[in-house]
Amino acid sequence: MIIAIDGPAASGKSTTARLIANRLDLLYLDTGAMYRAVALYMFERGIDTQDGEALQKNLADIDISFKDSLIFLNNEDVSEKIREPHISKLSSQIAIIKIVRHKMVELQREIAKGRDVILEGRDIGTVVFPDADYKFFLTASLESRAERRYKEMSEKGIELTLEQIQQELQWRDQNDTQRAEAPLRKADDAIEIDTTLLTIEEQVHTILAIVNRTNKG
Ligand code: CDP
Repeated sequence: MIIAIDGPAASGKSTTARLIANRLDLLYLDTGAMYRAVALYMFERGIDTQDGEALQKNLADIDISFKDSLIFLNNEDVSEKIREPHISKLSSQIAIIKIVRHKMVELQREIAKGRDVILEGRDIGTVVFPDADYKFFLTASLESRAERRYKEMSEKGIELTLEQIQQELQWRDQNDTQRAEAPLRKADDAIEIDTTLLTIEEQVHTILAIVNRTNKG
């Protein structure tokens, strides 16, 4: 079984997908974390991501793996580092690049092969698994997404204003929606869920009710 969850930044995809994975005993794959890991690698080595040759060469040296909800970049646990604000922006910048996307999509399909998986990202229902059993598109108002991310960041001790976060999310949504390669968009057959007024538990219930009602397993 494949469940695809797509949507704009901070729309609650990760929390929802993780809880559903637990309830249904699925493998959870956070594809955004993979783009973030690539961005971190390039950032730490000072690679000019506009330089196609340097990018390709460095991309070949990247190994990404997951274990116990942690992400490893060439065997280093980078789960915390990839959440830093400068990496959020860079991840969206490198996500427009064709060769980066091809490598990520290939890896995502490889990880999911022969398994029951819930994946979340921007292009899961449109590109990575267009034949997914279930497709959801989570949205929420910009204000509520910014508030949620602000709370997460404050808890981690990252000091950004609500306004800075809102601007960053807006910039990233625009960049993700307008790119030529696999832009962020709702697949025609995806079910859209506006989570602005929903609690996490309600989001999870809404999805589980649909999956249980139409169980294709
Ligand atoms: O957690 P948040 O919603 O802030 O972002 P994320 O899911 O971690 O994704 C970070 C960035 O990676 C996005 O802004 C996209 O540019 C890119 N991404 C993508 O292009 N395709 C995906 N399937 C997942 C993420």
